[in-house]
Amino acid sequence: MNSSASNSNVFVATAPGKIILTGEHFVVHGSYAVAAAINKRARVTVSASKKQESQIVSEGMASPAFEDDGQFVVVKSVLAGACEEYGRPRSIFQVQIDSEIPQGSGLGSSAAIAVAASAALTSFMGKKLSNDQIWELATRAEKSVHGNPSGIDTRASLSGGIFLFNRKSGAKPIVIRGGLQFLVVFSGKTRSTSELISRVGESRNMRPASFKHLAKAASFLSLQAVDALTNGDLPHLGCLMDLSQLSLSWIGVSSNELDDLIENLRTVGVLGAKITGAGGGGSIIALPKANESESLLKKTSLDYVHAFLTSVPQEGLRWEK
Ligand code: PMV
Repeated sequence: MNSSASNSNVFVATAPGKIILTGEHFVVHGSYAVAAAINKRARVTVSASKKQESQIVSEGMASPAFEDDGQFVVVKSVLAGACEEYGRPRSIFQVQIDSEIPQGSGLGSSAAIAVAASAALTSFMGKKLSNDQIWELATRAEKSVHGNPSGIDTRASLSGGIFLFNRKSGAKPIVIRGGLQFLVVFSGKTRSTSELISRVGESRNMRPASFKHLAKAASFLSLQAVDALTNGDLPHLGCLMDLSQLSLSWIGVSSNELDDLIENLRTVGVLGAKITGAGGGGSIIALPKANESESLLKKTSLDYVHAFLTSVPQEGLRWEK
């Protein structure tokens, strides 16, 4: 991101949430995964303030920016990291957060906020960061909240698009053939990513050999997904999503409710369906058959308020007027 939208010291950045097509959780342990940015974004506005102290505000709630009161933890972690690197901002400011991404839904809400906040706050502080520096700052903040994130969420929010990701080699964009649309359904049940990551860590410790096979399978499915996407072979992609779901169930991050939702979608007729993100609640994604996206959304919306379609690819971090 080369230029910033500055209007009398107001910096507005937005970043998208994400879905994971294959490899979530296993990516924390070194596997490949495939993720894509979605059409729901978080907006962070940083501006000079005439108040007595700097504040973070969102949806009618306000918290002093430098107080450790358990509120706005992600933004405060970004702020702490930025102060450590570049010194404390010289003037009083306000950070406003507006997000279309439901929190705790598995759609990368905190990563989107972390990325947009990293860009907007450091610009307010007079720093021009490279994309890699923004990613590092945002991922550091995510670490302080989620313990051991792979960095895939912040990469999707920063770079957008659809990509193959691995902790060691980073992100490799995938050029897709034809249009691609997913149905995303938030179950309404929020959960903590860090708890689920440690639950999976325990499952790995209990059955290391089996976990190792599944981690290898996750990489294999992700590499196959790249081929399917590149060739526009959506039925194959759907199969790979279904297979991913089996592994996710095995490591204990699905639930009866999510299984039922996925099964209902399969009965209606989709190419594939699975949990996306940490699971334990959160959201699922389904790959509709050609020309059936709208009717599938209509049916699903009868039971789920938070159902939407997203096309892929979507733009990553951007400055707004
Ligand atoms: O549920 P979310 O949006 O926080 O996604 C987490 C994805 C994991 O693979 C479970 C963790 C990670 O950092 O890769």
